[in-house]
Amino acid sequence: MAGSDQRGLAEELADISKQPEPELRGYPITPARYFSKEWMEKEWETVWTKTWQIACLESELTKKGDYTTTTLGRERILCVHGDDDKIRAFYNVCQHRGMELMKDECGHAKRLVCPYHAWTYDLKGKLKSVPDEADFTQGSPCGKLNLVEMKCKVWAGFIWYNMDDDCVPLREYLGPIADQIDTYPMAEFRRTHWVTVEGDFNWKLVQDNFSESYHVPFVHPGAVHTLEYGREGCQFDHYPQGHCRMMMPGGGPAAALMGGEKETLVKLKGEMDFWELNPDDYKGGNTRNIRKDLQAAKRRLGKIKGYNFSTYHDDQLTDNWHYTIFPNLSFSLKPESNIWLRARPHETDPEKCYFDMWFMVLFAKGQTEYFSYVMGDTISTQAEVPHMQGKAHEVTTGPAIDEDLEIWPQQQRGLHSRGYKRDYLASQESRMRYFHEILEDWMAR
Ligand code: FES
Ligand SMILES: [Fe+2]
Repeated sequence: MAGSDQRGLAEELADISKQPEPELRGYPITPARYFSKEWMEKEWETVWTKTWQIACLESELTKKGDYTTTTLGRERILCVHGDDDKIRAFYNVCQHRGMELMKDECGHAKRLVCPYHAWTYDLKGKLKSVPDEADFTQGSPCGKLNLVEMKCKVWAGFIWYNMDDDCVPLREYLGPIADQIDTYPMAEFRRTHWVTVEGDFNWKLVQDNFSESYHVPFVHPGAVHTLEYGREGCQFDHYPQGHCRMMMPGGGPAAALMGGEKETLVKLKGEMDFWELNPDDYKGGNTRNIRKDLQAAKRRLGKIKGYNFSTYHDDQLTDNWHYTIFPNLSFSLKPESNIWLRARPHETDPEKCYFDMWFMVLFAKGQTEYFSYVMGDTISTQAEVPHMQGKAHEVTTGPAIDEDLEIWPQQQRGLHSRGYKRDYLASQESRMRYFHEILEDWMAR
């Protein structure tokens, strides 16, 4: 039967084995790293200019001449779809007198023209023409000066770049989790929400937070009705490359939750209705059966409903596979939607950062709407996706992530106190410690 064939294939693809626990040094996670300018400067030299980062979505650069710009600290990065169909990443700076070249966040151009003196580069970054070319007594800059390119790779529906010419290839950088992410049809997910919060906190507070689920029942009391967070019920993995995975069962309440049946059924109603399960059948203490029944329904009905779930392990059909990629990327993958979260460092201030949220949906063939209880919203395939930007409270990243956003500025203030010296972590926070130890290793290189 097709279902069991699919499972056979899926199990080949998704490695669910538990990684050995890493040996951790356990040195103090000192507060100064969250506000010291020296620390920030060292991170710039040793981490930001050496690690793979996402510039934009592949879907933003579908046509020749499409371009995007993004920022990482003090740098502006320009990605261009060349007329040879290759996508390249450049430092977004004119070689004449250092003018920032392209101003807009995205656009379409035949040539890249500097707004200052109109030096003109082609879509491969070659300088093609300059006004008064004969006036350069040292010789024409054309043929000599070009945009400065950096490493660039298209993978999983994103454009990745690395400023380090000697970096390892992206797949090697990601290690085994690249194969796991490949089991999701990432390039087919469509971004439905795009928010950037100008945060008053250091970027590491974001990665710390998304490296543990210890905070979930207190910061997200609503989430426990549909998601396992506890150390017994989840699997936590640390990979040698410095990245981590949390496999968090979904489709039902957390094991530690007493009561709350009604909330579980209300929150899962949209998903259960779609997959032809009747919430009434789970009243009277049966909400913990929903997860397996949802998995079976998705296997049974996936194709009929317009999905291809053949590459997923059964657990991927209901669960959150949450990844933290060093240094600053976190994402939770679900079968039909996922959320990508990251904090980019500020240009100059270690106590600020830019926090990005992308919500992505895999629409079934023919589907026009998708209900996400993460976003608390029905999402239409027709919706425009503007880039919402502003301070926290001016924009929303959805009800769940807004709860995290409440924490970080308050924690940033607390870290300055004379009354706080260092961390005291539970073992279920080991991924946070691992992140800091990997960070220290990179900074010591
Ligand atoms: S700075 Fe770009 S043309 Fe002068
Ligand atoms: Fe959280």
